[in-house]
Parts: sequence; C-alpha cells; structure tokens
Amino acid sequence: MNLIGLMSGTSADGIDAALVKISGAPPDLRVREIACLTQPYDDATRAAVLDLCRPDAPLLALGRVHVLLGHRFAEAALAVLAQASLTPADVTLIGSHGQTVYHAPDGDPPFTLQIGDPAVIAARTNIPTVADFRAADVAAGGQGAPLVPYPDWLMWHHPTRTRALQNIGGIANVTYLPASGGPESVVAFDTGPGNVLIDGIAARATGGAWHCDRDGALAAQGRVDETLLAHLLDHPYLRQPPPRSTGRETFGAAFAADLWGQAQARGLTPADLAATATAFTAASIADAYRGWLPAPPEEVFLCGGGADNPTLVRVIREHLARAFGDAAPAVRHYDETGYSSGAKEAVAFAILAYETWHGRPGNLPHVTGASHPAVLGHITPARRSTVLATPHFSPTALRSHRADRSPSSATSANQATSSCATSACQRRVPATCSPSPSREPTN
Ligand SMILES: Nc1ncnc2c1ncn2[C@@H]1O[C@H](COP(=O)(O)OP(=O)(O)OP(=O)(O)O)[C@@H](O)[C@H]1O
Ligand SMILES: [Mg+2]
Repeated sequence: MNLIGLMSGTSADGIDAALVKISGAPPDLRVREIACLTQPYDDATRAAVLDLCRPDAPLLALGRVHVLLGHRFAEAALAVLAQASLTPADVTLIGSHGQTVYHAPDGDPPFTLQIGDPAVIAARTNIPTVADFRAADVAAGGQGAPLVPYPDWLMWHHPTRTRALQNIGGIANVTYLPASGGPESVVAFDTGPGNVLIDGIAARATGGAWHCDRDGALAAQGRVDETLLAHLLDHPYLRQPPPRSTGRETFGAAFAADLWGQAQARGLTPADLAATATAFTAASIADAYRGWLPAPPEEVFLCGGGADNPTLVRVIREHLARAFGDAAPAVRHYDETGYSSGAKEAVAFAILAYETWHGRPGNLPHVTGASHPAVLGHITPARRSTVLATPHFSPTALRSHRADRSPSSATSANQATSSCATSACQRRVPATCSPSPSREPTN
C-alpha cells in the first residue's frame, strides 16, 4: 500500500515528506521510495516553533502553532503526492511524526509533546493520519524515543554484516544492528548533539544570517580547542548508559549561549568554536560507540543533515579511527544505499504507521525502556467512508516482536528497490534517487 511519512526534526529546518510503497509483514517488509521532498519552514514559522521549545511557552501560541503546522504538514503531503502525479485516493495512510516542542521522558510525570494537528492533516488531505507515535511508549514507561530503530532493523538487518545507522539531525542517534541479529539484538540511543550546537554557533557568528554551518565551511577554518572539547565531553548525558534520549532541553539555545561565553573568555574565534563544536559531535559519536556498543560495527551509514557536512564527516572518520584503529568501521553516506538520507526519518514514520495500521507494535522496549511493546500512535480517520473498516487489531498482534525469525528472510528488505519518481526531491537527493530496479545496499 502507498503511505506518506511526514517528519520535522529537532533542527526545525522544515518538513520532510516521503511517499512510499510498503508491502509484506515483518520481518519481510518491502519498502520502495516513490518520491520525497523537504519543505523548509519560512523564518516566521521556524521562529514560532523554536519559541515554543521552552517550559514556559504560552498556551495560546502552542494551540495556534499546533494547527498552523497541521496545515504545513498537510501541504507537504499534498506536494509529495503532486510530485509523483498521484492523488489522495492513491494513498492509504499518512504517518506524521509532527514537530517535537518538548521532550521530558524523565520528567514527573514523564511526557513528550509533538505538535502539527493530525485532524487538520486528515481534513486537508482526506487521508487517514496516524500521529502522536511517542505517547504510547512513554505511557509504557519508555523514553518515547528512539522509535526509528525498529524501521531501521526492518530495512537494514543483514545476515553477515554488523551495521550502524548514524542519524545526525539536530540531535544525533545511532541504531546498531548486529549481523544476523533479531529486533531484540538492536542497540540504539541518542549519542548526543548532532547539528544543534553547530547551528547555534553559526547563527551567532553571522548575526543570525546563517541557520547552519553550510558544508562545514566555518569549522574547516578553525582549530579545535582540545581543553574545551575535553570539558564538553565530560557532560553527564554522555556518561549515562542507554536507554537514553536527549533534545534541545539539554543541548539547545541555553547550552549554545553558555558555550559561546566560554569561547569568548578563552579568546576563541567563531571558526575555532565551530571546529570545537563539530569535534564535540564527532567525538561524542565515537565515544558512544566505544562505551555502549557491544563491538564496533563494520560499516556506518550516515544520514540526516549532518551527513551533508563534509567537515563533520571527516572529523567523525578521524575520531572513529582514533577509537577503533584498524577495526574502525567504513563510513558511508546513506544515499549510497539508493534510499534518500533526507527522507529516511519520514520513511521510518511511514513504516511505523503501516505497522500501527496492521495492529502491530512499533517500539523496541529494550531500546526505549518501555515495559512492553506498544502499537504506536493515534489514528485520525478521514472523511472517506471506506477507510474506517480497514484497520484491524487482533489481540495477538500485541505480542512481543519475535526473536526467532528465520534468518533467510532477513535479507528480503535489503532487496527492496528505491525509485524516487522525480529528480525534484529538494534536499540531499542522492544521485541514485532515480529508478534503480534492483539494488543490494552497499554491503
Ligand atoms: N550542507 C550542509 N552543511 C552543513 N549542515 C547541513 C547541511 N545540510 C543540512 N545540514 C544540517 O542539517 C540540519 C537538518 O538535518 P535534519 O533535517 O536531518 O535534522 P532534524 O530536522 O533535526 O532531524 P531529526 O531530528 O529528525 O534527526 C540543518 O538544520 C543543518 O544543521
Ligand atoms: Mg529536518
């Protein structure tokens, strides 16, 4: 069936939309990208979103932006449909992650809040919409994050290769897939900051003119302050064992402002600070692998916006080489697989919506810390009358993900093909984002 996944991450840079065709059932799920795009937020929307990411955000603004983003998400869904020359009637379901404005899984009581009203999305698109994926996991005592590891496992587990998927969005997170391992073998957690600090420094260094250090140009001109880097790496979050997740609450504006002050006191140039923040992201990834993964992966696929920052990628390679020597993983761009790095998280939420639609859980309790597997999200029906009869929830579907799946089936997802229908995917579209009839991911 055709689904649309919608995602806006911590960077609040814009909405990623992916139109995919999914068939089969775990572990034999087939996922084909049909089209993908990113609709950047305009400055006012981005400012409104970022202004909500604080504990004392006004309720009126929260309500307004919730609905406003519902419209933006719906428009992204309609745009990706138009790109593929399809109509809402061709799509069974939307999976919308929404926009996280606050993530407090260790709060009292724990909560996580994603906005972008699914009622608006369903009304504007006339497509049933699954949203609010994280709440069920938090209600089960989990962090509500990360949720991408199960889709990662479904798409990328391999009989002989140990892989890691390293997403570098605002926050960076890893999914580790041991060779021939079932879902219970997945290790996944937020490694620490991704682009969030680098973005903050680039914005300060340019008086707000830059939203990010485009292609790592600023960091490439600077020198890392090793003393400040060591101090940053001593952050308590980085010592915390998984399950763990983090967000802007920890590494956001206040952290960036403090870091800027420290850098000024130490006489660093903005370029030196950008280089140091870039090294912080890279070193926290390498340290996390050394500290919390059972063994180094053989290959790491980098995805998310940070994968497009060549300075950051170079420094990640250096820190992994430093941490693991000859056993350091091969570092590759996710686009090399034939799937789109920029659309990966949106695809993941389409997969999770597909699982929810079929009454199957989407969290990995040992990853999130939840007490049980949970069917994720709330389904908002659309006007069309037939759709309500379609979802089916059987009591047995709530069983835990089975560990005893046949290894022979584990490769099937890896034989999926990628065919972004047009070359108009707006961001980080791989050269391979064109029909590629049979593709074994770079193995
Ligand atoms: N060419 C580039 N050079 C440097 N940084 C880039 C480049 N392209 C994207 N980025 C960074 O990537 C960010 C967007 O990445 P992405 O959309 O993956 O993050 P996100 O929205 O926080 O996602 P998530 O939280 O879901 O991982 C931008 O805000 C920017 O910081
Ligand atoms: Mg984004």
